Amino acid sequence: MKKITDFVFKDKKVILRLDLNVPIKDGEILSKEKINSSLKTINYISNSGGRVIILSHLGKIKEEKDKEKNSLFIVYKEMLKEFNNIYFSSATHGTVLEEKINNLNDGDILLVENTRFEDLDNKKESNCDEELSKYWASLGNIFINDAFGMTHRKHASNYGIAKYLPSGIGFLIEKEIKGLEPVINPIHPFVIIMGGAKVNDKLDIIKGLLPKCDYLLVGGGIANSFLACNNNVGKSLIDEDKIEELKNLLSEYKEKIIIPMDVVIEENDNVRNSKIDNLTNDSIIYDIGTETINNYAKYINDAKTIFLNGTMGLYEDDKYSVGTKEILNLVSKSSAVKIAGGGDALASIEKFNIKGFDYKSTGGGATLEYIKSGKLKCFEK
Ligand code: 3PG
Repeated sequence: MKKITDFVFKDKKVILRLDLNVPIKDGEILSKEKINSSLKTINYISNSGGRVIILSHLGKIKEEKDKEKNSLFIVYKEMLKEFNNIYFSSATHGTVLEEKINNLNDGDILLVENTRFEDLDNKKESNCDEELSKYWASLGNIFINDAFGMTHRKHASNYGIAKYLPSGIGFLIEKEIKGLEPVINPIHPFVIIMGGAKVNDKLDIIKGLLPKCDYLLVGGGIANSFLACNNNVGKSLIDEDKIEELKNLLSEYKEKIIIPMDVVIEENDNVRNSKIDNLTNDSIIYDIGTETINNYAKYINDAKTIFLNGTMGLYEDDKYSVGTKEILNLVSKSSAVKIAGGGDALASIEKFNIKGFDYKSTGGGATLEYIKSGKLKCFEK
């Protein structure tokens, strides 16, 4: 892979793929992390005299009405605070886009509307349509991919374009590869702490990670589904259709998968700690319990490498934040190499002002996939 510093950008039209898929709620950007971590690459190309044409996705576009809440215009407004020579194209193809590109001067930046708007036409972006890939490539002279959070996908705007232009990686991808090195070649014991709402999205990743790690400590909805294999978890959030597969994993990796022994539940408006054997049909699990925290502490203290993804419970609510906060505190005090990844993990670290992580990865699914396979899919031939 060529690096950004291997190119001469003066007078060149540079297609720059970024991951500007920021979390948005009520018209506000909740975390600017992805924008901020892309600035170095944008500045470098622009200051080198390149004309920067930025492509990114935002959310998922399945029907026409998804476009409104997933427009990159909100990101453009945020970026205007950084650059006075940035423009926006609401067209993702055609003459309006082409004219905007032709009007750019050296150093100017153009942010193009959400690449997934093209998904309304036969999922052209997500299915890596050849014509679309070729078309986007025809708009520039060089392609730089710095969308680390997308490296686990082969879409037209990250994988397709690269086939038709001289291509390289930006500073963020370079930094992520270096920062994640300790979890690609971990010193053992290697402990993975994984939480998050649904096991569904992460099951394949979990299967791939188990042979690599020594222990997998689980929390959140993932833990609920593991618990549901052998216990009544009442009305807790679980992935019913994955229970059989989880049962098999639990028996295959008996020693490695560490699940909660107690939890924080809400039952008829009453919040309390409960042993997992005492849950009733009305219980809803929202956090891991105190005995579980103490048990997880043993694995954390003995670890030489720790990777953390997701949270232990509904940490946004103070009533259910103890598990997430305590586990983060334990990790931050451990002498292991400590790495976190994914939006929720990073947001909880920020919320509780936890220090001491050796590296915080911007990628969610991309980081997990990279740890699992040691490969970045979008660079495979
Ligand atoms: C992410 O937020 O993990 C990346 O932007 C990828 O988004 P996606 O899962 O919608 O492809």
